[in-house]
Amino acid sequence: MKQLKISLIALFLLAGTIARADEGMWLPFLLGRNYEDMKKHGLNLTPEQIYDINNASLKDAIVSFGGFCTGEIISDKGLILTNHHCGYDAIAESSSEENNYLDNGFWAKSYDAEIPIAGLTATFIVRIEDVSKKVLAELNDNMTEEERKEKIREISKKLTDDAVDGTNYTASVSEFFEGNEYYLFVKETFNDIRLVGTPPQSAGKFGGDTDNWMWPRHTADFSMFRIYADGNNKPAAFSEENAPYVPKYSLPVSLKGVEENDFAMIMGFPGSTDRYLSSFGIEQAVTLEQPKRVDIRAKKLEVMKKYMDEDTDVRLNYSSTYAQVANYWKYFIGQSEQVKNNNVIGKKQALEAEFNDYMKNKRLSFDILGSMENYYKMTNDIVNIKAYNNEFLYRTDISLNVVRYKMFWVNAMQDEDPVMNTRAGMIAPRLKSSVMSFFGEKNLELEIEIFQELLAMYIQDIPEDQMGEYTKKIAAKGRKGVDKFIKKARKKSIFFNQEKFESFAENPTVEALEKDMLYQLVVDMMEASEAVTETEEINAAAERLDKANRLFIYHLREMNPKKMYYPNANSTLRLTYGNVLPYSPRDGVTYDFTTTIDGVMQKENPDEFEFNVDPRMKAVWMKKDYGQYADKDGNLTVNFLSNNDITGGNSGSPVINGDGQLIGTAFDGNWEAMSGDLFFEENIQRTISVDIRYTLWLVDKVYGATNLIDELNLVK
Ligand code: ARG
Repeated sequence: MKQLKISLIALFLLAGTIARADEGMWLPFLLGRNYEDMKKHGLNLTPEQIYDINNASLKDAIVSFGGFCTGEIISDKGLILTNHHCGYDAIAESSSEENNYLDNGFWAKSYDAEIPIAGLTATFIVRIEDVSKKVLAELNDNMTEEERKEKIREISKKLTDDAVDGTNYTASVSEFFEGNEYYLFVKETFNDIRLVGTPPQSAGKFGGDTDNWMWPRHTADFSMFRIYADGNNKPAAFSEENAPYVPKYSLPVSLKGVEENDFAMIMGFPGSTDRYLSSFGIEQAVTLEQPKRVDIRAKKLEVMKKYMDEDTDVRLNYSSTYAQVANYWKYFIGQSEQVKNNNVIGKKQALEAEFNDYMKNKRLSFDILGSMENYYKMTNDIVNIKAYNNEFLYRTDISLNVVRYKMFWVNAMQDEDPVMNTRAGMIAPRLKSSVMSFFGEKNLELEIEIFQELLAMYIQDIPEDQMGEYTKKIAAKGRKGVDKFIKKARKKSIFFNQEKFESFAENPTVEALEKDMLYQLVVDMMEASEAVTETEEINAAAERLDKANRLFIYHLREMNPKKMYYPNANSTLRLTYGNVLPYSPRDGVTYDFTTTIDGVMQKENPDEFEFNVDPRMKAVWMKKDYGQYADKDGNLTVNFLSNNDITGGNSGSPVINGDGQLIGTAFDGNWEAMSGDLFFEENIQRTISVDIRYTLWLVDKVYGATNLIDELNLVK
């Protein structure tokens, strides 16, 4: 422990290189390099108040929420604040037609009333350590990429085992800068998490998919959960005996609100960015891959919507899936469009030209940019089949049911090694229960229709020479062939019929599966895809690409020794800092940095689901009863902008002022900078957050959950 502290101080001495504001997802344990710049931007805290492994610090109030979002601890009773869209699945799952929390909201007035959410977790970061030296010492240039990966796995295993020895922690080693650096994360995960409160989705998802990824915004995108722990304040599975967790640290909540240029920082778990992607990679993504994924997602949405509109139960059941599909459907549309508008490819090409010049004198035997270009050239004609893998074969429920049987059971059954056969026997009950819960929970008609429609698209989009024999026979008759196949499969396939499946699963045999027509089709598609996407040539090119990516960053940093680089997002804890700021989306137009509740009412439309306003909220708005949550003009601020650098996974992250107090909850980015995951747009990229005062006003004045307000540490 002590040693770590010393190395932290040593890193502070490295400060002096210049950091650029706003852009950058920094590692909180390496802040020394940014610290002076953060102070210039308005930070009044010491680095130890942000990240410390010996004493409570801000990082102890941040959790990875379920592994897909971020949450912050806002009371000494383990209360978590996150986004509504992060809690969406839990809220929808807890809802029924009688207790429709998704549409009506939910507020637990006592601990007893809080709803346990099976499977949900909250993970704290205990400590982070730079283990690059230890990992890199074991690697050398003569290794193939495969050998390299194997070695890294081996060392990581040892490092993580050592790190958690004798504790209840878990640990992982993550790769940074495409394999130039490695950091170890020690974590503590809690798994008794309960739903505490949520506004109705009319508020929590106000504006729906129309407003998603856009400013000006008027959404109360928040929900609240609580961590429960055992008698020793340690993680435990759900139990009546568990009590609210007492956190190491919880965020004080500011009622002061935001002014232009105020310091704002965000800590959270951004999922993934690709800021070092080459011009070639971007070109392929936006011209081929994303448009295809958009098409496939649009079809899924169309089918889901049809069934959801007919039946409330189906709507509640599929709301969360629908929102997830729609979110990245719109994301891909926006990214392709803004890559063009922001000339991202041009900017990358300029950088690559400079890089090429720099590399000329180095006489490296390995062609970095050439290897990148070559990989994308070679793979343009398999982009579609990969898109169908991503969005259809390995992403829709029916085909996944089949894929799992093939991969985890049939392959193991057919293995020469008897150990594998035994393993298959152990896997069978799990596969059975997963398919049974599919039949129990999902709408079979909807799922079959999605399968049918995507199959019809597949046979259109995939060239014959990339198709398997079984699929070719269906494709030969076009759409009719697809419909006929589905019609017959409804009668015959165990994957379309619960009773048939049950009797199969009682005594599963490989022969029975291999006779099943849906099994035959899906396996045919799997094998065909593997045959075209994993040829020796492509695998070799992919290896060269990995190496090229790693060397590109290595030499890029060497080329600009003064510039501070930050690694791509990879779901590890990061910090971004900047200021509250407006922006200009286009010539002659400036967007304010805040919106108010009056804007919610301007957008209100009782006939449009996305723009309904809860009458309870409207009533308090009419009285202008904003109490201590009013801004200095007496109005109520709803959302605000800052130039922080966030991405998916940061959803729910706290926005923190210069004094370490909570001022908002980050929930989105802006349309004009949708290319931002590939290239940060200095002038126009913004984070959109819910003003904490709007959150508290709803909790307190509109929904009367004063028990929650009483838990908070409010700073006036
Ligand atoms: N675009 C947001 C994100 O990815 C999600 C917003 C959820 N709201 C919605 N209307 N779908 O973090």
